[in-house]
Amino acid sequence: MKRFLFALTALAVVACSTAPKMSQEEKEAFKFADKLIEKMTLQEKLGQLQQFVTKKGDVTGPDGVKRNLDEAIRQGTVGSFLSIRSKEEMLRLQKIAIEESRLGIPLIFGFDIIHGCRIQFPENLGASCSWDMEALEHAARIAAEETTSLGIHWTFSPMCDISADPRWGRVSEGAGEDPYLGAKVAAAIVRGYQGDDLASDNTIAACVKHFAAYGAPQAGRDYHTVDMSEMMFRDRYLPPYKAALEAGAATVMSSFNDFMGIPASGNKWLMHTLLREELGFTGFVVSDYNAVHEQVKHGTAADGKDAACQAMNAHLNMDMVYGDYITHGEALVKEGKVSEKTINQLCREVLAVKYRLGLFDDPFKYGRQNHEDVAYRPENLQFAREVAAKSMVLLSNNGVLPLKNVKKIAVVGPLADAPRDQIGAWISFGEADHSVTTLSAIKERYGAPNVIYAKGSDFHKPIKGGIEEAVRAAKQADVVLLSLGLPYTEGGEATSLTEITVPEAQQALLDAVKKSGKRVVVLLGTGRAMDVRNEVEKADAVLVTWHGGTMEGPAIADLVSGDKNPSGHLTMSFPYCVGQCPVHYNMKITGRPRNNPQHDKKYLSRYMHTPNEPLFPFGYGLSYTEFEYSDLQVLTPEVELGGVVKISVKVTNKGKYDGDDVAQLYIRDLVAETTRPMRELKGFERFSLKAGESKVVTFEVPTSDLAYCHRDLSFKADAGAFKVWVGEDSNATLEGDFTIK
Ligand code: GLC
Repeated sequence: MKRFLFALTALAVVACSTAPKMSQEEKEAFKFADKLIEKMTLQEKLGQLQQFVTKKGDVTGPDGVKRNLDEAIRQGTVGSFLSIRSKEEMLRLQKIAIEESRLGIPLIFGFDIIHGCRIQFPENLGASCSWDMEALEHAARIAAEETTSLGIHWTFSPMCDISADPRWGRVSEGAGEDPYLGAKVAAAIVRGYQGDDLASDNTIAACVKHFAAYGAPQAGRDYHTVDMSEMMFRDRYLPPYKAALEAGAATVMSSFNDFMGIPASGNKWLMHTLLREELGFTGFVVSDYNAVHEQVKHGTAADGKDAACQAMNAHLNMDMVYGDYITHGEALVKEGKVSEKTINQLCREVLAVKYRLGLFDDPFKYGRQNHEDVAYRPENLQFAREVAAKSMVLLSNNGVLPLKNVKKIAVVGPLADAPRDQIGAWISFGEADHSVTTLSAIKERYGAPNVIYAKGSDFHKPIKGGIEEAVRAAKQADVVLLSLGLPYTEGGEATSLTEITVPEAQQALLDAVKKSGKRVVVLLGTGRAMDVRNEVEKADAVLVTWHGGTMEGPAIADLVSGDKNPSGHLTMSFPYCVGQCPVHYNMKITGRPRNNPQHDKKYLSRYMHTPNEPLFPFGYGLSYTEFEYSDLQVLTPEVELGGVVKISVKVTNKGKYDGDDVAQLYIRDLVAETTRPMRELKGFERFSLKAGESKVVTFEVPTSDLAYCHRDLSFKADAGAFKVWVGEDSNATLEGDFTIK
């Protein structure tokens, strides 16, 4: 009995520990919503819980039901639309809602603004490699300004899914493998979208997705099962969602996957107990696309009605597209399977977000501004160029970069002049004809007569005569910039791969160009980490350019010319090979670590013919200069629980180039109640240093940041001994010790 009581107490501690207090603005919104709900019919309340895609006139939904959506708006049986590209169409539909429906409740329009609206910033995995939170916030701000001028109120972003498995194509949308960094990135993006006032006409509602743990699908296969302990979830996957909510995100999206055996969209522990009771979320949850109905496919719901019943009772507010909510809602209430109280709660949370967006006050405020005045502003394009440059990661360089005494440059490869591919997946309102490609940017930087172009090959297929043309170009040049990698169609949703090497046709191109005897710089365009052993071995330098966005080309020109110094650091490990996946720096040490003196070489946690470590670790990134980390000082060797650990380190720019670096602080909890990662990022600082300059970087780590999930699921820090390392990647060797008393 005692154990049971103890467990209950512990859960009570967990449950009430982090729920933020409701703001005055939210209280006012709910007051308004509750008054409105008193006037609403059940059908109208259900309408607020239904989101559709729209086409003109009658639309047959995935449920096979034909609906005239203009009429549905008049009847109040739809409250939201997604993915409408036309501002005029959104205004037309809003007009019907305001003027022709009984209560004039405004519609909310959502769209996938993932890494920019018109201007495409690097895909999020790449942008996160800038480790520049201000830049990420500003990029989201720019996206919000462009988005609102199109009449859109709400984005399905940030994607906060931690993932360490590059077989899963959606790693391109997130911030990589680390919970601490992922949390900082998620919060920065929410701040950028929502600003200080959700009601202003240039801020949009954010959406924390995909709740939850969608980034851990079995075998890296999209939509696959996610099964993990609550402990693992709370330690590794929850932090970015939590940080985005604490930053004030107005909405959440449920994920496609099942989680601990229950599809997220019908998972009451996720959507209510954790999200509402423990984390204090007061906004609304929209399902992912048809995900309410997909409980039937998962085999946990008998039919659409059962699916709607489970999702509603799990506290999922809005059914994206399928239609089970509006189709079955009334019967579910009449049969007592879903209470009207539940419907009122689901409805008031949707109405409150609409209220906070200012849509009741002025339903046409968004889109009043002329989109042409906002889109593609020169200063924002310049900023996108800077973000892209900061995001690119130099993996290897034998001195060929920055290019020196170079007259003729051969620009080769399927990504060299690929305006659509360079802006990646999920481009919302991005336009390939606004992309500045590598080819055009190198011509601009070095003069067109000095640049010879050859595509060389397609992504997966050779081009007839392509290799010969590429070799001819190489022979005429002093150096070859070889743009290899993956097309935009091999990143983002439903793009799982079992091979993560550069496709063979492109490897053949590299071999042929290499044989020309000219120096080769590989520019790797990708939305995911890859196995780049071949390129690193054969090329003189490898620069990961990601799918760098609209201004990818000029950013590449800035870096290869030395006008700018590379400063990106990986937020996702690059595996030695796909067989290691998922591989990440913060794995646990096991009872038989490879350096275990008690055992001979065999009985250890290792592979027989392959290293445990990735080819390039989390945090890794080269520069044209060299940063030396020295004199690590543990300023607080002993800290009380609740105090702050202070660590300083000296950094010197030993080279001849000015440059930026990212000082990273890692800890290890040496003896804990549960097994802890070998290392955990607990601090970072991006800084600039001129050649020869030094500075002291000081980290302050509150002991609360050292909290972890205990055996009773309480989340807290312990007293005990810790190791600390500081350096420029997760293999940092400069170390110290401290104790929490
Ligand atoms: C998609 C994605 C989700 C997106 C939604 C709306 O299937 O999973 O990330 O926001 O549908 O397009």
